[in-house]
Amino acid sequence: MNLKPLILGLIFFIPNLTISQNSGLSRDSIQALTRQDHQLMMERLGIESLRPGPSGDPSALNAANSDESKANTYETVPDPLIFEDGETVKNKPDWEKRRVELIELFDKEIYGRTPQKLPDLSWELLWEKDTLIGGIETSYRKMEGMVDNSEFPEISVSIDFEYAIPKSAASSVPLVMEFGWKWPKGMRRPPSPPGPSWQEQVLKEGWGFGILIPNSYQADHGAGLRSGIIGLINKGEPRDLDDWGTLKAWAWGESRALDLLETDPKVDAQKVVIEGLSRYGKAALVTMAYDDRFAVGLIGSSGAGGAKLLRRTFGEQVENLASSGEYHWFAPNFIKYAGPLTPTDLPVDAHELIALCAPRPVFISVGSPEVEGQWIDAKGMFEAMVLADPVYELLGKNPLSTSQFPTIQTFLDRGDLAFRQHEGGHTVGPNWPFFIEWARKYLH
Ligand code: GCU
Repeated sequence: MNLKPLILGLIFFIPNLTISQNSGLSRDSIQALTRQDHQLMMERLGIESLRPGPSGDPSALNAANSDESKANTYETVPDPLIFEDGETVKNKPDWEKRRVELIELFDKEIYGRTPQKLPDLSWELLWEKDTLIGGIETSYRKMEGMVDNSEFPEISVSIDFEYAIPKSAASSVPLVMEFGWKWPKGMRRPPSPPGPSWQEQVLKEGWGFGILIPNSYQADHGAGLRSGIIGLINKGEPRDLDDWGTLKAWAWGESRALDLLETDPKVDAQKVVIEGLSRYGKAALVTMAYDDRFAVGLIGSSGAGGAKLLRRTFGEQVENLASSGEYHWFAPNFIKYAGPLTPTDLPVDAHELIALCAPRPVFISVGSPEVEGQWIDAKGMFEAMVLADPVYELLGKNPLSTSQFPTIQTFLDRGDLAFRQHEGGHTVGPNWPFFIEWARKYLH
């Protein structure tokens, strides 16, 4: 029996298993503190109860919808090319203004505001070595980004980041950055798929790779919101209702790692790719949308809170995201949409997050519904891309070649938005060669 999909599935459905800043706390205390903070945010929002989300277990009585005929059509999806006052976005300068409006709405209602003033950060080289990866000689650096905490020394924050550059590089090279998972002590990593790793594939192209550990500077649970970079800025106090959530904090760390790469003459910082899977797929899309220095995005199985239309009643729902297990990824204000408000009240939706990446190329990756499950909602992500397409076209970019949801393993690679549903489970794995083939034209 092939256990891989099962193992990956189990990992996928156990939220927040990654170790974190609060790893000194027991699982029970993390859960208790998380519930307290979630409750406090509900009180501050004046919400007494929330609608519960459906279950990710397909055999549960309240399983999430996986029947296409029951998924809604959306008459109420906001148009990215209509200003809030009803005027039409007609050209590039208009789009720049519209972009500002959209960012404000995402900040206020969904992902929260990244603080204007953030402390300085200094990068330290922990070690450097020459090493062979997949037969390719690389120079590998392990870095630590130390955040200046002089304004609140009770909380210390540092960013774990490592990157590798092929030694043969004559000039500066493109680099693929990944939001990396760190496995808790005692927990076995899922087995690596056969064939060359993504790092080996990237190095073979002559590109470098980097791995940033988001949990090193912001824990993946509500209990962690009063520490990490979010807690440091708030001096250990709870968040305001429009404060940044963990996804924005994670994105901040990627931007700081890109600052570092900009100082390395071996890296072509104009050609840096951002990649992530699942919650880190959401984080990768947020990073790409907000920091336009990232050249290309590879967004793996990001689902709800990432590339999937939040209005679509299929797979994971806003009610799941707003629950105590996941609300920390967002601004507290977002919780309202699972209480008094509904997802159709959201002033923006995922297609506009994708549109914020325009004109830069984005590849949306997902696995097979049979192996990965329906929680991610591949079609909900594809439809968001279709709705983002007019923005790419307005900016003179190549559109998706079709608005029909493609069959599995069909590679929509002609546009600057690319899509492929691979045959595997909850991984980017089988899509790496396709991504590389498509991204070459932007990176070489
Ligand atoms: C849960 C969660 C998803 C998330 C995933 C993950 O399944 O509901 O939104 O993407 O965990 O990150 O593993």
